[in-house]
Amino acid sequence: MGHPSAARTDAPDPVIRTRALTKRYRGGQLAVDGLDLTVPAGSVFGFLGPNGSGKTTTIRMLMGLIEPTSGSARVLGHPMPRASRAVLPQVGALIEGPALYGFLSGRDNLLRYDAADPTADPRTRRARVAAALERVGLTAAAGKKAKAYSLGMKQRLGLAAALLQPRRLLVLDEPTNGLDPQGMREIRTLIRELAADGTTVFLSSHLLDEIEQVCSHAAVMAQGRLLTQGAVADLAARARGRLVVTTPDTADAARVLKEQGVGDVVTAEDQVSGDPPDRELAELTAALVAAGVRVRGFGVERASLEDAFVALTGEGFDVAG
Ligand SMILES: Nc1ncnc2c1ncn2[C@@H]1O[C@H](COP(=O)(O)OP(=O)(O)O)[C@@H](O)[C@H]1O
Ligand SMILES: [Mg+2]
Repeated sequence: MGHPSAARTDAPDPVIRTRALTKRYRGGQLAVDGLDLTVPAGSVFGFLGPNGSGKTTTIRMLMGLIEPTSGSARVLGHPMPRASRAVLPQVGALIEGPALYGFLSGRDNLLRYDAADPTADPRTRRARVAAALERVGLTAAAGKKAKAYSLGMKQRLGLAAALLQPRRLLVLDEPTNGLDPQGMREIRTLIRELAADGTTVFLSSHLLDEIEQVCSHAAVMAQGRLLTQGAVADLAARARGRLVVTTPDTADAARVLKEQGVGDVVTAEDQVSGDPPDRELAELTAALVAAGVRVRGFGVERASLEDAFVALTGEGFDVAG
């Protein structure tokens, strides 16, 4: 429900919004703790966190597969799990290893999956399945039994199932798990294509680098809690980049930078780097040149999402969690 008195903005309603969403498993494990998530329409939203940080639990609550202990979740404007029947037909989902019939071929798995959708027209079923297989690159392997598929092929078949119908939202839980680098690239390309068609994509990953390559927005989870969320460019911009000087005179350059108040000066081969100071960078170049340092390159490298993560937590992004 909207608030009629609230100021209207141009931004459309978020595709996913949670408020204080919390899940405590029966064993007492607090898997998701007071999560406030906002996924803008049209975004490719990366849900990033180490293993065990609560990503799958959150996704299962969003998809109405499990009840939250407290808090609420809205998907496409409707409360979940209450509105599952209205919401789920508009959502394609791939959650933690798709359920497949090993004794059926990839194609027959999809035909079966499509037949389970009461809104799917049986007359166009074969064409839909063929298009989905093509989209994930499984056409050649479509006749093979699913149990003979590699993990990556199974993952792609699950993705094909999520792509049978045009969707407003795709929810992909670690879609590149088990894929080789080539397979990961293909999935990234596919995600970009889907996003270009206007589908909002929500994908979880424990790989920071992957999120940075494909996502417009991200949320970072650790131990069931949200550390931060927003546009990837803004998250990275909050971390300061590194000042990098390329020079054959590294020892002199390091000394001058320290004299000029640059912190954390590190020398590696023909480069000296440090934390950029809050003053005019031109003063630094002038000081280097005045000291006879031959400057071949000088600049501030853009901060990565990893820099932002380190700045937030004071530690590296630990995949093992
Ligand atoms: N069905 C379950 N019962 C009890 N604890 C669970 C269950 N599923 C997950 N957990 C625990 O909840 C936490 C979050 O798990 P999960 O949501 O799977 O994280 P992620 O997907 O980020 O790896 C972990 O500590 C995990 O062990
Ligand atoms: Mg998971």
